[in-house]
Amino acid sequence: MYNAFFGFSDSPFSLSPDPHFLYRSAQHEEALANLIYGVQSRKGFIVLSGEVGTGKTTMLECLRDFLESQFIEFAFLFNSRITPDQFFEMIAYDLDLRCNRTSKTEVLFALNHLLIQQANEGRTTVLIVDEAHNLEWDVLEEIRLLGNLENRHGKLLQIIMAGQPELDRKLDAPNLRQLKQRIVLRCSLQPFREGETIEYIASRLAKAGMRDQTAFPAPVLREIHVRSQGLARIINAICDNLLLTAFALESKVTTLEMLDEVCDDMRLEWPGQPRHRSPSGGDSYQQPTYYTRGD
Ligand SMILES: Nc1ncnc2c1ncn2[C@@H]1O[C@H](COP(=O)(O)OP(=O)(O)OP(=O)(O)O)[C@@H](O)[C@H]1O
Ligand SMILES: [Mg+2]
Repeated sequence: MYNAFFGFSDSPFSLSPDPHFLYRSAQHEEALANLIYGVQSRKGFIVLSGEVGTGKTTMLECLRDFLESQFIEFAFLFNSRITPDQFFEMIAYDLDLRCNRTSKTEVLFALNHLLIQQANEGRTTVLIVDEAHNLEWDVLEEIRLLGNLENRHGKLLQIIMAGQPELDRKLDAPNLRQLKQRIVLRCSLQPFREGETIEYIASRLAKAGMRDQTAFPAPVLREIHVRSQGLARIINAICDNLLLTAFALESKVTTLEMLDEVCDDMRLEWPGQPRHRSPSGGDSYQQPTYYTRGD
């Protein structure tokens, strides 16, 4: 809505995990390098964990771009609230397996055939599961069994599981110790530090067409960091709402007053927040939360 007003060619703070807007913080760079290295060296199991909104799905989308550029076959499961039957059906669809996709036995045969064929051609195959913290135990067990498929050169299927920190806790459960032992690479994403938040905002603005950002003065940037706690999704939501407010007031520069209004509208909570703002009124603060205008 405000793109023409600020001279943006694209929306700078969309909530979609678009690799075009990737800000290469040191940890995102390292996570992506690990994912690619893990796949290329046929490491088997790789786990990517991180708090809500720290960029896990964005990393997986970057990996998807890499796999496509290398013509590496992959299945990408983004809905993890599934039964084992649905799990096999989804893999069969993604890998385009020619078999009765509702029969687990047929899918396993066809998958095995594909993996061996790919391995014989010196190629690998990848299974990516996003939101893996939601996976039921029986699906995790199927994933473990798929991870056992190997030839003398390495694993036939590279499995990447991404999820919130509950995933790490789930993998610590005694019944999953066999799966845990097979995880050879782990990476985790943390919220941005203040300097990164500032660079992140500047990077997104530059990619949308504002080279020297003047829309967010330094005190506003600092407060955005405090209130978002360095969580990328919340930074995006705050910045988007701030630009919208500035546009409505026909101003090219955002202010702390606008930020207060935006945070009130979003019902955002953060540590150290003045008491009268906190809907819960307590200090038992855990995580920044916010509600969209429609809630
Ligand atoms: N390094 C980054 N560069 C650019 N944008 C990013 C980066 N990290 C996160 N974002 C942006 O933050 C938002 C949330 O990212 P994403 O959806 O990848 O988080 P997530 O960790 O998968 O969250 P969830 O736990 O809710 O699934 C998206 O708009 C995404 O584009
Ligand atoms: Mg995600």
